[in-house]
Amino acid sequence: MTDLTATLPAATPSGGDIAIPQASPVGNARKVFIKTYGCQMNVYDSMRMGDALASEGYVTTETVEDADLVLLNTCHIREKAADKVYSALGRLRDMKKERNANGREMMIGVAGCVAQAEGEEILRRAPAVDVVIGPQTYHRLPQALKRARAGERVIETDYAVEDKFEHLPGAERAAIRSRGVTAFLTVQEGCDKFCTFCVVPYTRGSEVSRPLSQILDEAKRLVDAGVREVTLLGQNVNAWHGTGPDGAAWGLGDLLYRLAEIPGLARLRYTTSHPRDMDDRLIEAHQNLRALMPYLHLPVQAGSDRILKAMNRRHTAADYLRLIERIRTARPDIALSGDFIVGFPGETDADFEDTLRLVETVEYAQAFSFKYSTRPGTPGADLGSQVDDAVKAERLERLQALLLKQQHAFAEGCVGKTIDLLLEKPGRMPDQLIGRSPWLQSVNVDAKTSQIGDIIQVRITGTGPNSLFAERIER
Ligand code: 5AD
Ligand code: SF4
Repeated sequence: MTDLTATLPAATPSGGDIAIPQASPVGNARKVFIKTYGCQMNVYDSMRMGDALASEGYVTTETVEDADLVLLNTCHIREKAADKVYSALGRLRDMKKERNANGREMMIGVAGCVAQAEGEEILRRAPAVDVVIGPQTYHRLPQALKRARAGERVIETDYAVEDKFEHLPGAERAAIRSRGVTAFLTVQEGCDKFCTFCVVPYTRGSEVSRPLSQILDEAKRLVDAGVREVTLLGQNVNAWHGTGPDGAAWGLGDLLYRLAEIPGLARLRYTTSHPRDMDDRLIEAHQNLRALMPYLHLPVQAGSDRILKAMNRRHTAADYLRLIERIRTARPDIALSGDFIVGFPGETDADFEDTLRLVETVEYAQAFSFKYSTRPGTPGADLGSQVDDAVKAERLERLQALLLKQQHAFAEGCVGKTIDLLLEKPGRMPDQLIGRSPWLQSVNVDAKTSQIGDIIQVRITGTGPNSLFAERIER
């Protein structure tokens, strides 16, 4: 079998392979294989596309050879991520040729941010592609497939007037299928920040918040389906704003307070945040809400004020450090995570040292770091003084060594602690489960499958390369 999944790794460390629940194939229903690249937002969108297609009679498959429709949900954040899509399309073209020679249909769709950014280019470079559909137009997917089946090469990337949230079939009609005990819930999409390195404002459009009632409905449905932990998603999630039942303006902090009232919803998280949108109410929520987990992904990108300015981050390193201090005062056990870019145009050795210094000061529990990648159409692409790739590589190596050291130190610091563990899925050994710590770590513990979904008290006994070990505390 061609292992498309193995040959197409996820584009970002925070992203992952798709987690679309398996429906058992019924009769000769059409089958769809969805490959997800990039961030959690794409993982969520893939599920939603799966839901939309399910209402059209499709079932999902994890075997690309079985699929009548292959959908690539793509990421455009860095050059490598986009390149992967084209090499995958090359392999799919061969598969399609073979399939058609045997008289069977195979359709290929490209969704996500590469579709949005390079729609026409995809159709030109990859003649095997039938449908190109951007993230704001997924509700038109079934219609687009019908048109493609009638022989058209469809491109659906215009989204000026429609509200994607209004149209998502998953939210309004399809029942949410159980997806285990943790789930994502998109509350906000798009970004108005225009960091000069970033394509998101162009591919995902300007900031749109999902209305409160829709969010509450979906959260309740998730809980009814057995979900205990919900992660609110948005490219700029802490810019979420809505209207409360009393007509007052609500921010993410207010939303979290409201969600924490839903019976059975034990744990809340949110990602990704911008430092400028961490308001008092949100910080206060970290202090007061037991359900809000002590983990915060708060990217700073760089530690030099000169570079932060060139990145249009609109905060200084000192602003960020002050903010971290306030958050830690509110929630002393909070684990911090971040994103970093090395080698932004004009970054000198001294600028890079500032980044290292900031990292030393903050002490991250986890972090993602990248070499700057020029994205066509962003202001960063037009800047002179691009940094040599060898210099970027060397800086990245130094930064990652430091971040890894901090990550290990954080994990080691957990040993001996008693924590609440949400039992999530079977472990590698029989009678072992993998749970999630409040700080988002995977923890192995002896427990029965029937306990999945329970929150139990454990003591952390040791650390492994990517997870922790724990023993149950008998009560
Ligand atoms: N080059 C490198 N990294 C990037 N990111 C976003 N755009 C770029 C780029 N052009 C990183 C940022 C962001 C994360 C999701 O990806 O660190 O926070
Ligand atoms: Fe991109 Fe900056 Fe918006 Fe984050 S805040 S999505 S890095 S433009």
